[in-house]
Amino acid sequence: MERGGTYKPYRIKMVEPITVLTLSERVERIRAAGYNVFNLNADDIYVDLLTDSGTGAMSQAQWAAMFLGDESYAGSRSYARFQEATRDIFGFSHVLPTHQGRAAENVLFSSVVKPGHIIPNNMHFDTTRANIIANGGEPVDLVIDEAYDPQADLPFKGNMDTDKLTALIDEVGVGRIPLIMITITNNSGGGEPVSMANIRAVSEIAHAHGIPFFIDACRYAENAFFIREREQGYQDKAPVEIAREVFSLADGMTMSAKKDGLVNIGGILAMNDEKIFAAARERLILMEGFPTYGGLAGRDLDAMAVGLREALDLNYLQDRIGQTRYLGEELMKAGIPIIEPIGGHAVYVDALGLLPGFPQSQFPALSIVVALYEQAGVRAVEVGSVMFAHPDENGDVIYPKLELVRLAIPRRMYTRTHLDAVVDGMARIATAKDNLPGYEITEGRGPLRHFIARFEQVAHS
Ligand code: F0G
Repeated sequence: MERGGTYKPYRIKMVEPITVLTLSERVERIRAAGYNVFNLNADDIYVDLLTDSGTGAMSQAQWAAMFLGDESYAGSRSYARFQEATRDIFGFSHVLPTHQGRAAENVLFSSVVKPGHIIPNNMHFDTTRANIIANGGEPVDLVIDEAYDPQADLPFKGNMDTDKLTALIDEVGVGRIPLIMITITNNSGGGEPVSMANIRAVSEIAHAHGIPFFIDACRYAENAFFIREREQGYQDKAPVEIAREVFSLADGMTMSAKKDGLVNIGGILAMNDEKIFAAARERLILMEGFPTYGGLAGRDLDAMAVGLREALDLNYLQDRIGQTRYLGEELMKAGIPIIEPIGGHAVYVDALGLLPGFPQSQFPALSIVVALYEQAGVRAVEVGSVMFAHPDENGDVIYPKLELVRLAIPRRMYTRTHLDAVVDGMARIATAKDNLPGYEITEGRGPLRHFIARFEQVAHS
């Protein structure tokens, strides 16, 4: 046993070399990238915490399964294995593979969303938000108020506020809400979990009004881990049993399998509703491919079938959540304010907590992201005004309540040594935080501008 009572449930069989640039090389590279880490080459990065999406290491069982891939256009054995695994865990009668999560979202929303429709969620992730808007709908976030308080210490800070949900339904009417969603864990709000009780309550409200209830299931295994750890009555249950109970409360799901599917590419759209399925299947053929491969190779489906089960292994989850906790706790010891409690897949640094008074119009979280790359070769991602600030009807900019720097940990990828480099880099930034520059945007607009925007430095007042 390692310190802390857990052990690392894998060892390393194949290595991928990484290099470290000098400080002055990194300063030059990020300037040339327009101060947007999405424009950096991966070769210029030491520890890549941009995302936990599709960046993890597959297991030997997954690589072996890929050799059994059946590449038949229709009705492949790979699809049968994928269907078997997804039915076993999620239980929905219809399952469609997609190439990733946002494709599942687009297929779903283009099947059900009409102009004027409203889709409530605890918090929409940026691609769900953009896909709803692209189909003429309006995404609405109904997470509990405490989710916006970085230090509010709640076991299930990703919960939806059910009073807000009922009020919204009363206000706009059932006819304008084609479905209700909940995102587990709540990525845009700190990777915080949602309780079984909350999922059940939202399900009951949805069904009392005849509205379908869908789960954005990207991190369903991590959410199951937190329910097991924190919700009364689940301590002796296996994560798979908890997952089955969660999905038994829903009518369908979208999922990026690049997270808790433990694959580098893949997504899922599943449901019970026959009518939505008929429409979605048609959209899928148009946008992704035949319903038994949905934009993937047969071997990808096999890797996913194995990965979905591996993600529910308790030892894996203990190690996984343990890494995130280690990083968060070490950052707190170094005096860095983070969202508490520490979530599942990432540690979120509270940029305004570290830089009080830094104007949101000059992108405080971006300023930390750039400095962290320069200082330590670590790639983080801004989850603040670059991502979420948007104009209202009068053209005034609405700024998000939180300015965050997300340090997302790829699955089964990095060791403590790598995480320590992140902590050292952040500690150096905290010491010199008064010298951080502001930024102005010179290129990029719209709800997905964070991927493509370019910036220039400005001295901040
Ligand atoms: N929903 C959530 C909650 C997500 O976190 C993501 C992706 C998606 C949907 C879309 O899935 O990328 O496969 O199309 N999140 C990644 C991230 C990109 O970095 O958090 P996708």
